[in-house]
Amino acid sequence: MQNATLHQLKVFEAVARHSSFTRAAEELFLTQPTVSMQVKQLSKTVGLPLFEQVGKRLYLTAAGKELYSTCRDVFERLDQFQISVADLKGLKQGTLRLAVVTTAKYVIPRILGPFCQRYPGIDVSLTVTNHQYVLDSLADNRDDLYILSQLPDDSDAHCEPFMENPLVVLAPRTHPLAHEKNIPISRICEEPFIMREPGSGTRKAVQKLFDAHGLPLKVKLDLGSNEAIKQAIAGGMGLSVLSKHTLALEGLNNQLTILDVEGFPIERSWYVVHPSGKQLSAIAKAFYDYLMNEGKQVAEATSLLGMEQQQPQKVEV
Ligand code: PGA
Repeated sequence: MQNATLHQLKVFEAVARHSSFTRAAEELFLTQPTVSMQVKQLSKTVGLPLFEQVGKRLYLTAAGKELYSTCRDVFERLDQFQISVADLKGLKQGTLRLAVVTTAKYVIPRILGPFCQRYPGIDVSLTVTNHQYVLDSLADNRDDLYILSQLPDDSDAHCEPFMENPLVVLAPRTHPLAHEKNIPISRICEEPFIMREPGSGTRKAVQKLFDAHGLPLKVKLDLGSNEAIKQAIAGGMGLSVLSKHTLALEGLNNQLTILDVEGFPIERSWYVVHPSGKQLSAIAKAFYDYLMNEGKQVAEATSLLGMEQQQPQKVEV
């Protein structure tokens, strides 16, 4: 068993518990072929089959039963170890303070779910606000961690990207441009445009792109909320540019569509940020590590959107 990995044992344990490759794949956010491959390799290492299929049902073999009970012991011991370590690190209780930009509210609460289950004694204070206000909180050291898509040039902050946050052009599904390909960016300036409020990072990124092309937008409305902008687009008030993640829960329903415009999506990433010299609490450090290691996977598993498989973009600060 020296060659068996903990990951293979985890996959095997989930298949055995559910008596199903499909349900194990769903639970672990893996594809079914990956799960089958891991079990196949494990059974090769053991030297005996671990499952047998009778009709539609999957049964553990004698070797499978032995391994299943061993896995349960191993994982129980590991869970106990994790709790002991958490206690030692002071993760049993306390508050995690997060300040995030409005686009991040579409993923951070979903990422927080499994984290809070892992550390049930922890309370979370989550402030959702725009880019400028998050920068103000960072400058005042009001929170533990900050989530931003754009960083101040002069900030003495430690920052690390954890997930892509592309900005796309949204229109009503019935819009005449809805089925066009490679729409010139100048064409967007002929349409009424709905813009986020001053201080918004989304607004900054949109303005930067159109300014770089020397193109003025016909801004008809300023709105301080992504949700209100989506409603205004659906109501035919104009086009807008928002994070693709603003569609995470409903996906592309029958009201809105993403236009295929030259220069889009605007590729951006979310960064987890804290002042360089700040000593993170055990809770903040645990959340930071969790976000970097598992955040993207958890967010994507619960989103209705197909996000491109890209690496978050690194910047030097
Ligand atoms: P905003 O920031 O909420 O200030 O628009 C979002 C972002 O920059 O992704």
